[in-house]
Amino acid sequence: MRNPGRDGHRKKRRGGRGPGKPGSGKNAPIRIIEAEITAIGSQGDGVAHDDDGVLHVPYTVPGDRVRLTLGKGGSVIKVDRLSGGDGRVAPACSHFAICGGCALQHVRDGDYEAWKRDRVIDALGKRGLHVTIDDMIRIPPGVRRRVRLGAQATQKGVVLGFKQGGSHHLVDITECPVTSPGIVALLPRLRAVLEECLAPGAAAEISVTLAGSGLEVVVETISPLEMAERVRLAQWAEEVDLARLAWGGETVVQRRAVQVTVSGITVDLPEGAFLQPSQDGAAALEGFVLDALRGSQSVADLYAGWGPFGLALAASGKTVQAYESDPAQINALTGAALRAGLDQKITAWERDLRHRPLLADDLAGLDGLVLDPPRAGAMEQVGELAISAIATLVYVSCNPASFARDARVLVDGGYQLERVTPVDQFLWSPHVELAAMFRR
Ligand SMILES: C[S@@+](CC[C@H](N)C(=O)[O-])C[C@H]1O[C@@H](n2cnc3c(N)ncnc32)[C@H](O)[C@@H]1O
Repeated sequence: MRNPGRDGHRKKRRGGRGPGKPGSGKNAPIRIIEAEITAIGSQGDGVAHDDDGVLHVPYTVPGDRVRLTLGKGGSVIKVDRLSGGDGRVAPACSHFAICGGCALQHVRDGDYEAWKRDRVIDALGKRGLHVTIDDMIRIPPGVRRRVRLGAQATQKGVVLGFKQGGSHHLVDITECPVTSPGIVALLPRLRAVLEECLAPGAAAEISVTLAGSGLEVVVETISPLEMAERVRLAQWAEEVDLARLAWGGETVVQRRAVQVTVSGITVDLPEGAFLQPSQDGAAALEGFVLDALRGSQSVADLYAGWGPFGLALAASGKTVQAYESDPAQINALTGAALRAGLDQKITAWERDLRHRPLLADDLAGLDGLVLDPPRAGAMEQVGELAISAIATLVYVSCNPASFARDARVLVDGGYQLERVTPVDQFLWSPHVELAAMFRR
């Protein structure tokens, strides 16, 4: 259990979360085998082996004995569990194993935590980096403050929920133990208003955010709004006390600003702005950044968003240069700094760091820096950081693989990777967040 993800060393074969219909077309069963699950793979699936390679078997744990019906190419099309491994626990949600949002609710807590931590250890090990990894900071259930749901108008009503694992099929959800009750309670009423406003057959992607000042609903769809629906949505926003509602790229109603607070500074979030998934996770990352950069005076915040790290650093007395590609988030940061009287402490620049990374001249004079790039990492930017003289770097990442690739560049450039703390921002999913500190 402590060594998942080793399956990559053997010939890979398809597994799958969306079993096809036995007997039909390319999924016609060609073989039935019995196997034992030996580990949990990188996507949270159980891993078994047969003569031809690795099989990925969702919702199993090490020690499970399974009978697998295999289709063409070795895809797993049916799983019968013959006996159970002792690491299995009852899942927290009735939608588990249908809804693709969670992959690991059935895994005993200690094994779950070890598996997530090992994902970071393995990713770094593949790049030849062997450091002690801190215990994972746990984020409890029921605190996710932002979800992205799919909606589909059908003849039987609107389906509102997450995609089934490995498929585009939506699972209509009635509960979600990961998510804040304030969001879950809205879902039946959101479904009802979508039934009134979404055109027949239309689809939408919907972000629901629980900010400090209340709920924001952003509906991305090409389903048009006529006047009657517009009026209905505004009335509904009143009924459910939304702060803001947007539809198809247009603000339908803003009843109050969508606000969050960091280090006592209130920020007005732009529509659909990036927000760490939970307040607890955001606080853990902010704590790590402030602690690692406590000895620095002049710092940069790269991929700054609306400035949760940069504003906290400025409030703690440092001079901050923030860089971010999204002008709306830059405006939010600048406005918040001005209102808080920190405009002399923090300066925010709109800049695409992939196409225009900060160069030696931009980095000169800094003694600390935090970067928090998207999943793909910061390959173009770390090349420049690796030849800089900045004493302390903090790297926040939601992808251990791209982080490890970038960490290798920094270490080859003479930095020492001193500390890595995994943060369980994405409870029961295979994703892991981490914060790391490098020093010259
Ligand atoms: C993971 S978020 C982090 C935001 C912020 N640090 C936070 O904690 O809320 C990554 C940010 O990088 C920005 N971004 C994405 N690509 C970028 C690029 N090429 N150059 C600069 N910023 C970029 C996104 O707009 C987003 O705000």
